[in-house]
Amino acid sequence: MALWGGRFTQLPNQYFKKFNNSLHIDCRLVEEDILGSIAWSKSLMMTNVLTLIEQKKIEDALIVLLKEVRNNSNKILSSDVEDIHTWVELELVKKIGSLGKKLHTGRSRNDQVSTDLKLWCKSQINILLDGIYKLKKSLLFLAEETQNVIMPGYTHLQRAQPITFAYWCLAYIEMFKRDTSRLKDAFTRIDISPLGSGALSGTSWNIDREKLAYNLGFSSATNNSLDSVSDRDYVVELISVASISMLHLSRFSEDLIFFNSGEANFISLSDDVTSGSSLMPQKKNPDALELIRGKTGRVYGSLISILVLLKGLPLAYNKDMQEDKEGLFDALDTWNNCLHMSILVLKGIKINKFVCREAAKKGYSNATELADYLVRKSIPFRDAHRIVGKIVLEAIERNISLQEIDILTFKKHCPVISSDVYDVLDLCSIINKKNSKGGVSKEQVSCVISALKHK
Ligand code: ARG
Repeated sequence: MALWGGRFTQLPNQYFKKFNNSLHIDCRLVEEDILGSIAWSKSLMMTNVLTLIEQKKIEDALIVLLKEVRNNSNKILSSDVEDIHTWVELELVKKIGSLGKKLHTGRSRNDQVSTDLKLWCKSQINILLDGIYKLKKSLLFLAEETQNVIMPGYTHLQRAQPITFAYWCLAYIEMFKRDTSRLKDAFTRIDISPLGSGALSGTSWNIDREKLAYNLGFSSATNNSLDSVSDRDYVVELISVASISMLHLSRFSEDLIFFNSGEANFISLSDDVTSGSSLMPQKKNPDALELIRGKTGRVYGSLISILVLLKGLPLAYNKDMQEDKEGLFDALDTWNNCLHMSILVLKGIKINKFVCREAAKKGYSNATELADYLVRKSIPFRDAHRIVGKIVLEAIERNISLQEIDILTFKKHCPVISSDVYDVLDLCSIINKKNSKGGVSKEQVSCVISALKHK
């Protein structure tokens, strides 16, 4: 049964009915729809559409329904009604008869659906904030453990300058901090209630919308109903926050996939987040990380879908907007799963300290330091750069590191070089020299770690 049969003389085509139904998707909003309905019934009572007794009857029946769906969510999917709003209303009528039919007074599914979705988004944001928090905590723990693990830092995927593993962890914590802040910021805009906007121009019943918003846990009520029922900015915003965070998770995964490769061998992933090959017995593949990297694509797909979906829509509600939920649900579920998978990966990670350090020694990642050394001996940087380039070239030809070059060879390239150069080329001293804010020095890193710990 539909909510709108009166002006129709024909039943809907069965194929259209299936095409039009959204219950299999929006059934996820059942709790929000029930809670929104309870709050709406209270507003109707305050405007004398319902008596106190009628409101109580409606509320009690809705609470029973809430318990029923919590115990058995399959209850909904066996129905063939159009959407979750229809389902809740029809279930209410089943329970309390025609009194249930009064509930929709002054309300439209247009304000109802956005209210439900905003309520759902708010609770998801809290779950996601918790996931990001736990991931940051895992990274912080690893950072604390790896402050002395020197490894190469890369540009163009070529060894560039030495860093520590802890410093790499802290880089990702910064990204996830920004994701947290974006999510909290998005929350403030979602936290405004559309309920009472009616179909598009408000409700003619004397509803205290601010009170209604407050009863539903919103900070306030929206200002313009035409906007309220057609606004899906918050869906775009949430998927875009998810997309940015997935970008971070994807780069994080890619780094770890590379660190775990046979070529780098900086880390070993635990057996419980990797899988074997059906053919090659020696393989241990970083599936969890590859899937995070791969799933990033589908979140971006949802972002593009919602942007394209909304771009040409005239005000106010259009049925196109029913297509907003599937991508949103999928994007936030995917993001949440990937956050938890990342935490699991970090839990079992082993850092191969020796290999990391040996790699940092190779690749001439201390060449910048040698140039700076020459600058301190009054050689202009551009000249120093060229001289060091020549020294590196010779070292490459002889297949040795800069530390292994003897003093006479150094002097041949530049007479101002003396034996104090070897201290300068030492990895620890290079790292600890980068001691201004944001640098890789041990002091800076431990400062950031303790600030994060005491937050
Ligand atoms: N299922 C619909 C949606 O998700 C609910 C709103 C229906 N409104 C309407 N005027 N048909 O968008």
